[in-house]
Amino acid sequence: QPTSKSFNDPFSIVSHEMSNLAKLIASLIGSGHPMLNRVSSYYFEAEGKNVRPLIVLILAKALLKIPVSERNRIPIDSSDVLDQPVYPGTPQQTVVAGNSVNKSISPLRVLHGINPRVILDPLSKPMDRLPELDAANGILPKQRRLAEIVEMIHTASLLHDDVIDLSDARRGRPSGNIAFTNKMAVLAGDFLLGRASVAIARLRNPEVIELLSTTIANLVEGEFMQLKNTVINSDELTVNNDGDVKTIPQPTGKVPVKQHEYSVTTPQEVDHETNVDAAFEYYLHKTYLKTASLMSKLSRAAAVLSGAQEGVIENCYEYGRNLGLCFQIVDDMLDYTSSDASIGKPSQADLKLGLATAPILFAWREEPQLGALIGRKFSEPGDVEIAREAVRKYNGVEKTREMAHKYCSQALDNLRTLPESDARSALEFLTNSILTRTK
Ligand code: FPP
Ligand code: MG
Ligand code: MG
Repeated sequence: QPTSKSFNDPFSIVSHEMSNLAKLIASLIGSGHPMLNRVSSYYFEAEGKNVRPLIVLILAKALLKIPVSERNRIPIDSSDVLDQPVYPGTPQQTVVAGNSVNKSISPLRVLHGINPRVILDPLSKPMDRLPELDAANGILPKQRRLAEIVEMIHTASLLHDDVIDLSDARRGRPSGNIAFTNKMAVLAGDFLLGRASVAIARLRNPEVIELLSTTIANLVEGEFMQLKNTVINSDELTVNNDGDVKTIPQPTGKVPVKQHEYSVTTPQEVDHETNVDAAFEYYLHKTYLKTASLMSKLSRAAAVLSGAQEGVIENCYEYGRNLGLCFQIVDDMLDYTSSDASIGKPSQADLKLGLATAPILFAWREEPQLGALIGRKFSEPGDVEIAREAVRKYNGVEKTREMAHKYCSQALDNLRTLPESDARSALEFLTNSILTRTK
């Protein structure tokens, strides 16, 4: 039964974790350079939506409600490996045969990545234990850290995104590129990724390392698809629908199938309908890569860390995928419907950036001539206005909302496979509010 507290605020079940999030992230991103510290902590200072860590933490709680008998016993090493300081010159905590001693480690040893713990501590070997033993408030230490990691990756991508999008505002303040210059914003993003990578490695879980590394590559691929509307396949790579590299060498003589290809002027051999379908496929693939990849893979990682069985892990992945697609489609819709002040960043920006998102694709389905404008990225005077009028005329925004609604319902279906709990209700609430959000 939900308590009255959790009924009023479903997220109160993780409010303690959420209020500590910024502080914990701060402890992972300290550097010896005061200016770097300012830039890399800048986006964490303003109130963000924190959707990704919320998903990790609440999903973690929902997953630990699965009976132990239906979960795998997973190897867990002692979690203090998560918390060693990472930069040179800091006194390191080290363990000799199970006894903790404070000892200053040579900065050079740290710089060269020689971790004294790994060498000295025979007790740090993975043990076959029940995850519950380490859980506090139904969340494992590694899942907490996962929440911090995903917010760091996301924030790194925002610093870069605002440079790429020539944005001037984020979270109601000047964006990083404006407050500190493009160069510093890019470097701070790289730094956050570096520190996130250290934290990822310390999760000591190869599958989770692979998931999160793939997600970083997916984010870049998604941005590239948005930069240049070209096919993603090269001769050397085959990429599945989620952008994961499956095979490296192509068998000789076999021509790779080109995925997600469409033309802005429908070729004679293809009908307009089929061509627009291909454009939607391209759009959805790009949307998966830039947003849903992180959400699906963080959900999967939270499940892997809980010792869940394969079916549950797969369902969590699908949940994150559907939620992520819904989230970005709503984002693209809000770009048409919101004002700068209400979303804390520039609105009505996508057409000006030359981006064809769902609302204009729905209009294009009805009006084939819009293809020419999409092709020239709305660059001629009046193009943006014509496109906006077409979106209004053909109810592009409403159709986009319906599309987001479809993914939202599928995400809710995925959640129903988890045992009933306050945490599951909170996830249902979160899923619905992603659809109805206004910023
Ligand atoms: C926001 O989209 C941007 C993203 C979801 C991903 C951006 C990814 C990169 C720049 C690739 C580099 C990645 C890393 C990890 C450094 P948006 O521009 O549509 O949304 P906005 O309105 O919030 O700016
Ligand atoms: Mg962008
Ligand atoms: Mg942007």
